[in-house]
Amino acid sequence: MSIYITTPIFYASGAPHLGHAYSAIIADCSKRYHRLKHSRAFVLTGTDENGQKIERTAAINGATNKAFVDSRSLLFKHLWHALDFEYDAFVRTTDVNHHQLVRQVWQKLASKGDIYLGKYEGLYCVECEQYYTQRQSSDGACPIHGPIHGKKLEKLSEPTYLFKLSQYKDAVVTFYKSNPGFIQPDYFRYQIIEALNSSECHDLSISRVHGQWGISVPGDSQHIIYVWLDALFSYVTALTSAGGTVKDLQNTHHVIGKDILKFHGIYWLCFLLAAELPLPKRLVVHGWWTCDGRKISKSGPAKIISPAELATVITTDGLRLGLLSQKPLEKDGNLSVPELIVNVNSLLANNFGNLVKRLVTIAYNNFTGEISWQDTTKLSCQSELLIREVNEAIQSVDRAYQFYEFSEVCNIIGGCLSAANAYFHEREPWKKRVNADSEDHHVKETLCVVGAVLKVIVVLLKPITPKTSALALSQLNDEQNGDTWPVECKVQALRVNKPISVFERLKI
Ligand code: MSP
Repeated sequence: MSIYITTPIFYASGAPHLGHAYSAIIADCSKRYHRLKHSRAFVLTGTDENGQKIERTAAINGATNKAFVDSRSLLFKHLWHALDFEYDAFVRTTDVNHHQLVRQVWQKLASKGDIYLGKYEGLYCVECEQYYTQRQSSDGACPIHGPIHGKKLEKLSEPTYLFKLSQYKDAVVTFYKSNPGFIQPDYFRYQIIEALNSSECHDLSISRVHGQWGISVPGDSQHIIYVWLDALFSYVTALTSAGGTVKDLQNTHHVIGKDILKFHGIYWLCFLLAAELPLPKRLVVHGWWTCDGRKISKSGPAKIISPAELATVITTDGLRLGLLSQKPLEKDGNLSVPELIVNVNSLLANNFGNLVKRLVTIAYNNFTGEISWQDTTKLSCQSELLIREVNEAIQSVDRAYQFYEFSEVCNIIGGCLSAANAYFHEREPWKKRVNADSEDHHVKETLCVVGAVLKVIVVLLKPITPKTSALALSQLNDEQNGDTWPVECKVQALRVNKPISVFERLKI
């Protein structure tokens, strides 16, 4: 079975920022994990390029809409390359095949009587591309963008096509009842159930007469299809670009930020039910990165560093590890570069890189890089304990990856590394009689056990830190096992290469 993991398609109105990078790294890391388990896993991404927001921003930048989205889309591609985000499909909502698909969907819904022409009056936020009710905005400001840049809502009254969302509400409620694990973490499932139980499921305005940049409504070119209907179906366009079909929606995990939960948890499901398409497998919802308590966004805060710049300062693996380890998925986290550096140094430079280097150096200098090991050799209790801890970690890290609990993955790995370092220090392999002819069992056992532990940890870390893991695998001469999830930690002969540093300590 194939697994498809999607990122949201990113608004091409601004430059990519750390919040975007977070969604992308989560999806990439999960794909790499599934590949280690030999699943056919694919990651899909792209850019959201239609709508009034793009038109306005292109005009401010003195560019044509097309030239503007072309350049913005490229910025995302460059960044994904710099962050080792290996996507399998990149969809742009200005692509012809995407336009065709969305218009087909529209025609299907219209032919079923799920779309009708009406009028919409309300308070609209161009940034969110959605209407808000008076109740949601007592002060006339956008609940999302008001606190960020004082954005006021605009009063709009316009003819619009409406989608009979209310017709599908009950089916969605039933779906949630029979699929309690659909939204992850649970915390966000309750939010959606609450929204479904409140009176917020009115029919949805799905066309705009303001602006021209988008997909026109079949048979009524005065109207442009609402960007969210357009954007959500990009997941189907992307699936087909990656070689899948609409059926694969049921094997799809959508990684999204908490701000776009309602669009996915309610609207998307209703659209799919109306279009008679399968529902996705999972919604994986993450919290925000903030800076001084404010959500990081394209417009601020000013002092926030760009993801590409940060990756050059703390390395790509450092950035990936830092963002994934520092907070549980569902929580918001305040970004502090010095804190990231301390955490990355602690796990990757000290606990991991340093142990690899010390092990390889002793084995290389004192045993010409090769230590033999008999499978029948009895291990000391101390070694047995460490091996058992690592074997348990393989199971618990596996479970944590399955549920996108990356900070837990890092905690468990950090625990194993601390145990391995303590074992190494207590046994002091550098102090014993070590030379090529020595039969010093204590030293050999220590080195082979730590080698076996590190071979496992390198692979457990690989989805998060692909470059560092590749270097460490080559130090431990274990590339052949680097593409497969470890089954167990097994002490075996050790062969190492000339020592190098697999991760240089970052400077604050
Ligand atoms: N274009 C829509 C998504 C359509 S998907 C069919 C969109 N784009 S976005 O560019 O605004 O956001 C893309 C992703 O970045 C979302 O998952 C969003 O939650 C995430 N982030 C944007 N800012 C963020 C932070 N400050 N922190 C973490 N992630 C946040 O919404």
